[in-house]
Amino acid sequence: MLSHIIDVLADPIDGTALEGVDDFTRLVSESGHSYDVARQGYVTLAGGAGLRYSGDDAQMIADRETFLSGGHFAPFVESITNHVQAVFDAAELGDDQQPVVCEIGAGTGYYLAHTLDSITDSRGIGIDVSVHAAKHLAKVHPRVGAVIADAWARLPIKDESVDAITVIFAPRNAAEFARILKPKGQVIVLTAEIGHLSELREPLGIIDVEAGKVDRMIEQAAGHLRPVGESELVEFEMTLDQQSIASQIGMSPSARHIKPEALAERIAALPEKMQVTARARITCLERIS
Ligand SMILES: C[S@@+](CC[C@H](N)C(=O)[O-])C[C@H]1O[C@@H](n2cnc3c(N)ncnc32)[C@H](O)[C@@H]1O
Repeated sequence: MLSHIIDVLADPIDGTALEGVDDFTRLVSESGHSYDVARQGYVTLAGGAGLRYSGDDAQMIADRETFLSGGHFAPFVESITNHVQAVFDAAELGDDQQPVVCEIGAGTGYYLAHTLDSITDSRGIGIDVSVHAAKHLAKVHPRVGAVIADAWARLPIKDESVDAITVIFAPRNAAEFARILKPKGQVIVLTAEIGHLSELREPLGIIDVEAGKVDRMIEQAAGHLRPVGESELVEFEMTLDQQSIASQIGMSPSARHIKPEALAERIAALPEKMQVTARARITCLERIS
């Protein structure tokens, strides 16, 4: 619910504080800008230029929900939560604190809900540019506030107000992350590694993960963020049936490059069940100053 995180949100136009008015049907900033809260409970906080992207469509979000609810990515989810907990522990937060995790490109909120369930009194902001994602985020957990915003624009969040940022297969805006993080906060990034879904790539004709992704991310963050320790490889085998494979492909950008009929044919030609590798890397970044 937005009321849980209102103290952290800021006007996307000028960064002033927001408050909920008319029973939280609107958020109004100190400077007088007003943002309607949708009936479903999310709010769009975009600056004057509006949103330049629409993000994942309804079918991609539905496929993501189907795939993740099968528990296939559980080791990724556990690792992300463990890293968030470690960041909170290292920051020596007092018992009365209600630390804030902000997930950028949060999708259905599956990861964020797991983290909040595991960490007592933590609060979450789920940011996504997709309205379909925001509808899920608004109901995924009572301590999540769902916000439609563009990760490449000024984030609608106060300076130094967030204890951890999670970015799971989603866009990274290092300058904005450094601005909103508390001094002891960290960004926890999960990026796909070469070998991820390797057994599916040739039979389905989907492109591989680019090499050097993590190094490039670290280079792009220079001046704002720096890595903390070594990154961690998380790798495991999944047993996927054809339906799970269809939803895995449907939730990823690969779905956009292959005609649906061709994809369905290729999936039908796969064995009924397959062992498929999941392989991604967790990198933690902290503010430079
Ligand atoms: C690959 S999905 C990952 C979703 C979620 N983190 C997960 O792993 O389940 C990427 C998400 O980022 C969102 N997204 C893409 N571009 C964005 C942008 N510029 N600002 C905010 N969200 C964006 C998409 O709508 C989508 O929900």
